[in-house]
Amino acid sequence: MSVPVAILISGRGSNMLSLVKACKAPNFPAHIVQVISNRPQAQGLEAARAHGIDTRIIDHTLFASRPAFDQALGEALDQAGARIACLAGFMRLLGPQLVSAWHGRMINIHPSLLPAFKGLDTHERALKAGVRQHGCTVHFVSAGMDEGPVIGQSAVPVLPGDTPQTLGKRVLAAEHRLYPACLRALAQGDVCLDSGCTTTAPREQG
Ligand code: GRF
Repeated sequence: MSVPVAILISGRGSNMLSLVKACKAPNFPAHIVQVISNRPQAQGLEAARAHGIDTRIIDHTLFASRPAFDQALGEALDQAGARIACLAGFMRLLGPQLVSAWHGRMINIHPSLLPAFKGLDTHERALKAGVRQHGCTVHFVSAGMDEGPVIGQSAVPVLPGDTPQTLGKRVLAAEHRLYPACLRALAQGDVCLDSGCTTTAPREQG
């Protein structure tokens, strides 16, 4: 059985593409039904279309309130027939109603080893903090920003002379491996938010 998945983006969409490509592999337990962007100019939209993926724009600036945007997004996810939603560089905070409607079925990727470095500019902050290891996390979406139970993490070393750019590139390569592994685990029931499945989170050493 293949689980229908929608991907939410706001920009470049390289993680979205890693999921699209992974889903094309034989026996992958999920397929992408739609890519949704809150920004009409998101680079990832064109990339998704080039891979034959249906796209939709839900421009948050056209909505009077956050709940109104969330409602439109929830309706779009339902209309697309999605059972799992993957946030991939999606730069909007979602409200409690939408988050609870997608409890256990909405996941996000963040470029740090959570709970360290929630929020923006994670590579710069990791370098300033002097950590020896950095990385990325895929987690279930909960009401708090970059919170929610962790599904998988991938660590990369911080090397002498690293800049936010060189470190970010190393982390991004890890993201592109980790996100498909975590989507696979969720789609085939190896990991879940509540009890009822075997919780073997994907792990990868950088
Ligand atoms: C990634 O680093 C992701 O972890 C973060 O935003 C960035 C999006 O990059 N949430 P892309 O759009 O997937 O290329």
